[in-house]
Amino acid sequence: MYRTHTCGELRAEHIGQEVTLSGWIQKSRELGAMTFVDMRDRYGITQLVFDVSKNPELSEPARELGREFVIKVTGMVIERESKNKKIPTGEIEILVSELTILNKSEIPPFTIENDTDGGDELRMKYRYLDLRRNPLQRALELRHKMGIEVRNFLHNQGFFEIETPYLIKSTPEGARDFVVPSRMNENQFYALPQSPQTFKQLLMVAGYDRYFQIVKCFRDEDLRADRQPEFTQIDCEMAFVERDDILSMFENLAKHLFKTVKGVEIEGEFPKIPYDQAMKLYGNDKPDTRFEMTFTELSKIVKGKGFVVFDNAEYIGAICAEGCASYTRKQLDALTNFVKRPQVGATGLIYLKCNEDGSLKSSVDKFFDEEQLKIWAETTNAKPGDLVLVLAGDKKKTLPALSELRLEMGKQLGLMDKNKFSPLWVVDFPLLEWDEDLKRFHAMHHPFTSPIVEDMELFDTDPGKIKANAYDLVINGVEIGGGSIRIHDRELQQKMFKALGFTDEEAEEQFGFLMNAFKFGAPPHGGVAFGFDRWASLFAGLDSIRDVIAFPKNNSGRDVMIDSPSRIAGDQLEELKLKLIPKEEK
Ligand code: AMO
Repeated sequence: MYRTHTCGELRAEHIGQEVTLSGWIQKSRELGAMTFVDMRDRYGITQLVFDVSKNPELSEPARELGREFVIKVTGMVIERESKNKKIPTGEIEILVSELTILNKSEIPPFTIENDTDGGDELRMKYRYLDLRRNPLQRALELRHKMGIEVRNFLHNQGFFEIETPYLIKSTPEGARDFVVPSRMNENQFYALPQSPQTFKQLLMVAGYDRYFQIVKCFRDEDLRADRQPEFTQIDCEMAFVERDDILSMFENLAKHLFKTVKGVEIEGEFPKIPYDQAMKLYGNDKPDTRFEMTFTELSKIVKGKGFVVFDNAEYIGAICAEGCASYTRKQLDALTNFVKRPQVGATGLIYLKCNEDGSLKSSVDKFFDEEQLKIWAETTNAKPGDLVLVLAGDKKKTLPALSELRLEMGKQLGLMDKNKFSPLWVVDFPLLEWDEDLKRFHAMHHPFTSPIVEDMELFDTDPGKIKANAYDLVINGVEIGGGSIRIHDRELQQKMFKALGFTDEEAEEQFGFLMNAFKFGAPPHGGVAFGFDRWASLFAGLDSIRDVIAFPKNNSGRDVMIDSPSRIAGDQLEELKLKLIPKEEK
């Protein structure tokens, strides 16, 4: 028998029992005639003692034990002299009487403790060692628990979990597809699904009116902290529903997860903010509403006073940072540099300090007198002690830049508490987005999203103004999920494809299967998909989704542990009838 208990299990009440434990050696130290060893498994750490005076034959082997050796020990649970309050097993230790080395280990390339000295790439290369660390094990445990609770909740609501294929035809959802060549169908390719979107709609046509799936999705897009080329969705669809039926069902799922996984009760309905409002107040369609600091547009009151930056600007917006009038020159310069970073993209920063003594000081005193600055302060609701920060320029660039500045100020002021959760729905997104380069519209969500009924006639007059019956779940500034009521009418779907610039033939070629299905009694339906990795990393309080994924890819989409992607053998290529273009010819 390898173990009677785990390394996280023994407490004072076990004192006097003989036990057997197996696990990895985290560290060992010698103190005179004693050797102390921390033995770890995924349940915790238990201290072992090898005492020469009690078991002399063990003293030599004990000294030879190295980090990450796998051992089995038998011994007596005894009370620890110097208790360790930091770990649950800290009141006891095991006086070892038998030791078996199950496997030796080379010295690991980094320390396998809560805080490690290993850099990112090294830890990714030895991911199986990194995964031995407690923070990662807790993150994967939390993810597991969330998965179970999602299944519990949806099962109780009558949802079926149904698998859909991974080798499919491409579904255009904004990103590039990963493609897979078919050996049996020469010169033809499958695409890996960016999501099971069309399949879940077909399941609605098939009468499975409550579907879900915890499912891998694949997107060939540029990676960021919250994006992986393969990621997991909690994908859901319902038939015979309107928007609010869906929002209410999945708000309850969210509340269930908050309660069962985080122990947090979220009271009342989640706020619903129209997209236009989110952009106006936060410059962002995924606003972090843990704090206010909303935008005030100043264009009307500051234009025409001879300050060209304002006079030439399409949009002038401000935020009021409470209690920041005391910011020093150095701090303001740092903020100016922050907004000028290419990722933020503003040309400069204008400020107004509302000093505690009531005086006003701005960076544009030359153009605005005290009376005018007073109007700025009143309009932005700034009180003595506050700092008003203003950005001006093109609307398209300035709104996101001011949004970045707002988030930076939120960070500096400690307003982004990871234990506070502020969920909301963003609703009424535009249906179509104009692509200036391609001179055509593309779908903001995807081509199967229904317009809201009142806007239907705009298809023929002003398609850019049509609002979609689409919604996103946003928590703490993270887009956790998104979905929509779908088009279930063949003619409307054709209209949509037309607005997106598809010819009838292209629509038929790509989506004939869906359009055909719509001929056979498609029910009204809608759904949503949540980013499982994002949700888990938010709950785990992590900044990247990588650490809730056992084997993630790095920023270049590589798995450095298995060294993938990699070349394939010549005969494999031949079998697939593929020829590579040498690098220099490209
Ligand atoms: P959407 O494209 O908005 O919708 O995706 C749903 C959610 O999936 C997460 N997500 C990602 N997570 C990690 N890495 C990525 N590369 C990545 N891309 C997306 C986000 C996002 O909100 N079929 C529709 C859903 C529907 O209409 O029902 C869809 O896929 O959290």
